[in-house]
Amino acid sequence: KWDLKTAFIGQNIIYRPVLSSTQDMAHELARSGCEAGTLVIADKQTSGRGRLNREWESNHSGGIWMSLVLRPEIAPNNAPQLTLLSAVAVSNAIEKLLAIDVQIKWPNDIFLHNKKLAGILTEMQAEVDKINYLVIGIGINVNQQIEVFGEELQSKVISLKELLDQEIDRKTFIHCILEEFELLYNDYLENGFKPIQKSWVDKAYKIGEEISLKTPKKNFKAIFEGIEHDGSLLVENSNGDIEKIYSAEIDW
Ligand code: BTN
Repeated sequence: KWDLKTAFIGQNIIYRPVLSSTQDMAHELARSGCEAGTLVIADKQTSGRGRLNREWESNHSGGIWMSLVLRPEIAPNNAPQLTLLSAVAVSNAIEKLLAIDVQIKWPNDIFLHNKKLAGILTEMQAEVDKINYLVIGIGINVNQQIEVFGEELQSKVISLKELLDQEIDRKTFIHCILEEFELLYNDYLENGFKPIQKSWVDKAYKIGEEISLKTPKKNFKAIFEGIEHDGSLLVENSNGDIEKIYSAEIDW
């Protein structure tokens, strides 16, 4: 049994050495009624996935690959707030445990020295006005040598081991994330999104700078101004108008 100081986040842990994706197993468990806070962890994933249908290279060990099931009583429109909350939880854990400052690249990449350290993928099962469940997938590059990544990725990603030149105890790290997560989650359910929004903006990558966006409608450059209460991105376009962006590919 793990010595974990939470009331429910991570109190039910399912560990498998290899899975297709921890997301798939978490969905299965959620559909069959598992309790909120259930966590699926794997050492390797044969078909890990990322946002925007991207592949998430995780068929090697050393990383943290895990998925958390939640059942929040919030409007489905507000689900993106929990993705941002997750990014803040992971960042806080890294700062607490390792005294390293990281940044959050909208909506939910954790960045270190301009390279990707972690990614978060939220998947939702909802009706019009009610969330049945959420699966929050967290992938963190921890003890990998950077060579395990394909050539194309090597210049874009970073692992904690590469930075610190030492192995991190993954269990201690996971505990720390789960404890941070529960603190923020309870605060969120009680006091709303404002406190999380502030922490998120404090860590935001390239805030106030120009970024290039590709949306289904157009490609354009704009200044990254902040985030909206619903988790969307606020940018100022070249006409000086503020636009809200819900989903985009961004060239940072
Ligand atoms: C992204 O950056 O696009 C999100 C990456 C999310 C990866 C994690 S690893 C654990 C969970 N299982 C998956 O297949 N994906 C998420």
